[in-house]
Amino acid sequence: MSKPKVLVTRKWPAEVEQQLQRLYEVTLNEQDIAMSDDELKAAMQNYDAVLPSVTEQITADILNVENKRAKILGNFGVGFNHIDIEAAKANGIVVTNTPGVLTDCTADIAMLLLLMSARRGSEGERQIRNQTWTGWQPTHLLGHKVSGKTLGLIGFGRIAQAVAQRAHFGFGMKIIFFNPSTASENIIEKYQAVQCNSIEEVLSQANFVSLHCPGGEATRHLINEKRLRLMQPSAHLINTARGDVVDSKALIKALKEDWIAGAGLDVFEGEPNIDKGFLDMENVSLLPHLGSATEETRIAMGNLVLKNLAAFFAGEEPGDRVI
Ligand code: DGY
Repeated sequence: MSKPKVLVTRKWPAEVEQQLQRLYEVTLNEQDIAMSDDELKAAMQNYDAVLPSVTEQITADILNVENKRAKILGNFGVGFNHIDIEAAKANGIVVTNTPGVLTDCTADIAMLLLLMSARRGSEGERQIRNQTWTGWQPTHLLGHKVSGKTLGLIGFGRIAQAVAQRAHFGFGMKIIFFNPSTASENIIEKYQAVQCNSIEEVLSQANFVSLHCPGGEATRHLINEKRLRLMQPSAHLINTARGDVVDSKALIKALKEDWIAGAGLDVFEGEPNIDKGFLDMENVSLLPHLGSATEETRIAMGNLVLKNLAAFFAGEEPGDRVI
């Protein structure tokens, strides 16, 4: 029997690509150049499975292409707001993602940004690189203490809970959160957390706010000017979720006009073409979407896609089926 034809849209860790080559008739993206919409449409017509990442917008236009062959999109990532889920559903295309395996590393990046922002790490590094550091001073680059402060989480899924674990047990932080559904008593007790009734409540009480909600239309600009104005002037906003959860223009205004003390961002609206307004500000720490970027995690993500594909082609239910 011939092997299923599989297309991988970006370069993956070598050991996962080798495994794909053993199992399938696979086309890899050796050059790692993002594919155009026309190339993605052709992929839907010529392959049984397409394995996209966050860098491809899998729109209704692509999913509605005539003479489709693809039956499954095995997404390399947990977030799937770059895929038009309704259009995939309408076309009978199965979509899977990679939850769980990137929880710890993404939580680590949230803590990294929280610490960078609170302790002005990026500013300090820039001073050394620019050779503008003149030596130790009692009032040089004073930041905000992290230990014992209040961390507000917007969303309380796996990654948020992993951040709570680090913040509460590592830094003695008090955890408050907003989540649309009620969190389990056990989890709340574990972190001695407080579930707030509104996002506004979290924003006004927290010294640090970390975003952990999914991307997409429902959460677009969830953090807007009105909400940013509720935060304390000494507070920091951390975003490792999706860029469009925050209104960039409003955040730039908040940082410029000192409504808040700082921000740490791993994701951006329209990334990688980020708003230039962020570039010349000292009080924002910027990372290029590194949440899951460790060798271990990216290999685990690839292996999970493989597992989902294997189940699908064996006629079984893939473990991480989104639709
Ligand atoms: C994820 O898994 O959602 C990461 O942000 C990469 O897409």
